[in-house]
Amino acid sequence: MFGIKIIGGNRLKGEVQVSGAKNASLPILAACLLTSGECVLHGVPRLRDVEVMVEVLQALGARVNWEGATLTVCTREVKTTEIPEILMRKMRASNLVMGALLGRCGSFKASTPGGCAIGSRPMDLHLKGFRSLGARIDQQYGFTLGEARKVKGTFIHLDFPSVGATENLMMAAALAEGLTIIRNAAREPEIVDLQSFLCRLGARICGAGTHEIRIEGVSTLGAGEHLIIPDRIEASTFLAAGVISQGEVMVFNAVAEHVEPVLSKLREMGAQIRVEEEGIWANSKGKYLQSVDVKTLPYPGFPTDMQPQMVALLTQARGTSVVTETIFESRFKHVDELRRMGAQIRVEGRAAIIYGVSRLTGAVVEASDLRAGAALVLAGLVAEGETLVEGVHHLDRGYHNMEEKLQSLGARIHRATLKT
Ligand code: EPZ
Repeated sequence: MFGIKIIGGNRLKGEVQVSGAKNASLPILAACLLTSGECVLHGVPRLRDVEVMVEVLQALGARVNWEGATLTVCTREVKTTEIPEILMRKMRASNLVMGALLGRCGSFKASTPGGCAIGSRPMDLHLKGFRSLGARIDQQYGFTLGEARKVKGTFIHLDFPSVGATENLMMAAALAEGLTIIRNAAREPEIVDLQSFLCRLGARICGAGTHEIRIEGVSTLGAGEHLIIPDRIEASTFLAAGVISQGEVMVFNAVAEHVEPVLSKLREMGAQIRVEEEGIWANSKGKYLQSVDVKTLPYPGFPTDMQPQMVALLTQARGTSVVTETIFESRFKHVDELRRMGAQIRVEGRAAIIYGVSRLTGAVVEASDLRAGAALVLAGLVAEGETLVEGVHHLDRGYHNMEEKLQSLGARIHRATLKT
């Protein structure tokens, strides 16, 4: 078992390169199942979640070769359309292969994903969309089975702009007969990246990044090569690390437009932000941070995946901040752990009220999920004394070498083996 130990107090200074986006890599890997041609993906981050998706593809019959940040995927034939239960349990995003299996093979079988630390995470919007495309969906004995002799293009209005449902339905419709229109689609940059990858394979899709995506089904798809977009949440997390530590950090390879909602909040808090050719620079040396209100919303609103990190940052802002989580129903588990470090935070339903400035002191804290873990690391950077973050396996799901990148910025942080 590992933990991450941080001695707080160092101002971060320097530059860091963000990796490829986890939440673009996962749907794009799933989309490789749609073609028997070879897919070459560059800029793929070496993360636990990506490794699990690779295991899912291999279990379904794909050959995958991973060299550095380049993955070559070839699914000449799909051996089975049943997603191994153990892998579904390891990672909910394994459900992203359902749409591709339905489109390519006309069926899928998966254990119904459970909830996780941040909410119940149902799949009703995915399944309703599959049914609209002509699939028969059965749910029994803890499994979800989908079957469609032929997927037929249709009009789908999503009750909520779900990222996963938008991605699954784009993949299911890529090989359908006729036109599919997805209205109230999610607009995240990862959806746009999926569209550009699918179009490289020969799909006829347009509108990603807007509320309406149009997919003209084609009979087959070919080979393709693609560079994954940078991870906007990793980039935002490192910018927040620079700001919370009263330092100055340059994040290379970040796309400013993708992190705009976060940049505008950091500026509102009083941090100096500069968008340059090669990346984004944040500086809060000698500046007092001001409290702000944040509400998480679907893109281009403030990302829920930066909410825990923002709560940690706002403990160091003067005044009272209100952070409202509108996407997931229980995404404040990091608050209890931050309180153990001295943070003054009250949770009322979907809102966390943060009273700054709190003097944080090091403690042994537990990461409940990926982004909560990142929030606790940020808090450890400014806490007096030593913080030990347990549950590091959560961090490894979404951050590649986080502690090494923070060390390169001057943080006193290292991975420690825990006595079990
Ligand atoms: C994606 O999850 C991301 N994961 C999440 O990132 C991210 O927090 C989320 O989008 C929101 O931006 C990946 O891309 C792999 P949703 P997803 O479907 O697709 C409800 C991280 O830390 N909903 O947009 O599962 C759902 O319960 C992870 O990297 C339904 O009700 O998110 C939630 O309240 C965490 N029915 C809301 O919609 C459905 O059928 C948003 O979910 C689907 C979703």
